[in-house]
Amino acid sequence: MSFIVKKRINGKDYYYLRKSVREGKKIKAVSIAYLGKTKKEAEEKLKNLENKLKNMEENKIQKVDHKSTDVSIEEMTNFCKRKGFVYPSGEIYGGLAGFWDFGHLGVEMKNNLKQNWWKFHVQNREDIVGIDGSIITNPEVWKASGHVDSFSDIFVVCKKCKKPNKIDKNELGKVKCDCGGEYDEKSAKEFKLMFKTNVGEEGFAYLRPETAQLIFTNFKFVQENARMKLPFGIAQIGKAFRNEIAPRDFMFRSREFEQMEIEYFVDPREKCPYEIGDSEILIYSDENQEKNEEPKKMKFKDALKKGIIKTDWHAYWLEQEFLWFVNLGANAEQFRIRQHTKDEKSHYALDTWDLEYKFPFGWKELQGMANRSDFDLSQHQKFSKFNMEILDKDEKKILPHVVCEPSQGVERAFLVFLFDAYEYNKDRENVVLHLHPKLAPVKVGIFPIVKKEEMLKIAEDVRDDLKKEFSVFYDTGGSVGRRYARQDEVGTPYCITIDGDSVDGKDVTIRDRDTTKQIRVKINELKEVIRKLLEGEVDFEKVGNLVD
Ligand code: GAP
Repeated sequence: MSFIVKKRINGKDYYYLRKSVREGKKIKAVSIAYLGKTKKEAEEKLKNLENKLKNMEENKIQKVDHKSTDVSIEEMTNFCKRKGFVYPSGEIYGGLAGFWDFGHLGVEMKNNLKQNWWKFHVQNREDIVGIDGSIITNPEVWKASGHVDSFSDIFVVCKKCKKPNKIDKNELGKVKCDCGGEYDEKSAKEFKLMFKTNVGEEGFAYLRPETAQLIFTNFKFVQENARMKLPFGIAQIGKAFRNEIAPRDFMFRSREFEQMEIEYFVDPREKCPYEIGDSEILIYSDENQEKNEEPKKMKFKDALKKGIIKTDWHAYWLEQEFLWFVNLGANAEQFRIRQHTKDEKSHYALDTWDLEYKFPFGWKELQGMANRSDFDLSQHQKFSKFNMEILDKDEKKILPHVVCEPSQGVERAFLVFLFDAYEYNKDRENVVLHLHPKLAPVKVGIFPIVKKEEMLKIAEDVRDDLKKEFSVFYDTGGSVGRRYARQDEVGTPYCITIDGDSVDGKDVTIRDRDTTKQIRVKINELKEVIRKLLEGEVDFEKVGNLVD
């Protein structure tokens, strides 16, 4: 049973949806959604949520019944190229290591991913606003941030396979090459990671290696103009460039990539007002790593209680980021959080946790979440002589802290969703890409069964109507089976066929990608039905007449 509760935090009212759950012999209430600051707002949000929650509980959309596959990174690279998701950049000239171009499906999926990130992190919240900073900025920014002095890796060559590689400064003499060979310590040299470029005749600048610094340099303007009060965040999605020594694993380590970052500013004396939920994840602390122990499965909030995660803000944001992936169809079992060891932390970080994913090439960082304290604002204040202080809740001046910084690479998230969606279906003898409908590059395939004039007319009318709202693909070529297979392979969740009965009955068939079940739906209800299916608000089998 769920119910609305009002909480008073720091003198303000917040409404939450809570639910009774059984834990052993006890019944307890847990918060399952934030509903807003007024009762009216809460009641409206609840109405919209009810249908979605019902479906989630019935596992209709959130849990697609397929297992993560063993597809290798090389197979994924080929698949992406073959289907028009991603190509090596400048391939007709031999490509350029670490640079990738997105094809006609890739760009749609990437845009969907970024839009969903923005919706979840910015538009659905009242405490985060966005910016879009420039790629090239005053080079002083990078002196103040510490990148000019410290943003480097160590370049080494393997004695056995002779390949160059990058290692972190603390890894010299401690790690080996993937081939098992030792690194030649004489070959080791510091390698600066920022790309330099010219500005005008004589000037020079850097291509930004992270989006974060533009958030810090604009901090005061945004805070004033958007009238933000602590705690609040500033988000940005945009390109970043790093001259990686050894780009590898498809887009995982690229030289040009995109980041989706939030700098979340707090008064470090104040507690996080948001509730930490009940999700569990594998937790791999600094101590586990030192003692060579396995990561332990635990609730985020229990890790906070036990002092493994040091601050409530860190626990809250780590859970939010994990939930963002899982709610968009990623497999929760493939994730863990890992704390940076003492000698691994960046120059600016007090404590850092990475959200990691189990790729076919091992557990790898998806998202770094550093406690940057007031390092960046105080550095920019010092270098620019521009006062970065704002007022705290008692109207006293304060330099806010960034207690954690969700920083996600778009390409790495793109790979996660592809790996979790990819299945070679033996019965259908084709790949089925079980992408969440919100991420799917094409939402609806539309096929007239045969090329008869009256059927084509209906199909074209359906296409023209649906494309006003959704990305659709109209296909008249080949057998219907082939047309379904082509859409399965690129993750299209629904396909519509127009047949002889559509002419008299004014209805069409919708086929569900994951189950291949089909329903008959009236053409004049089609747009609304598709909208609700994509939003996960209705049950496929109940929204039309099931075809046997
Ligand atoms: N502002 C903090 C920051 O940039 P980071 O850990 O260096 O932290 C954040 O980068 C995220 O950006 C990473 O977790 C990863 O998802 C992505 N990223 C970093 N370097 C990348 C690369 N060479 N190729 C693709 N993605 C990368």
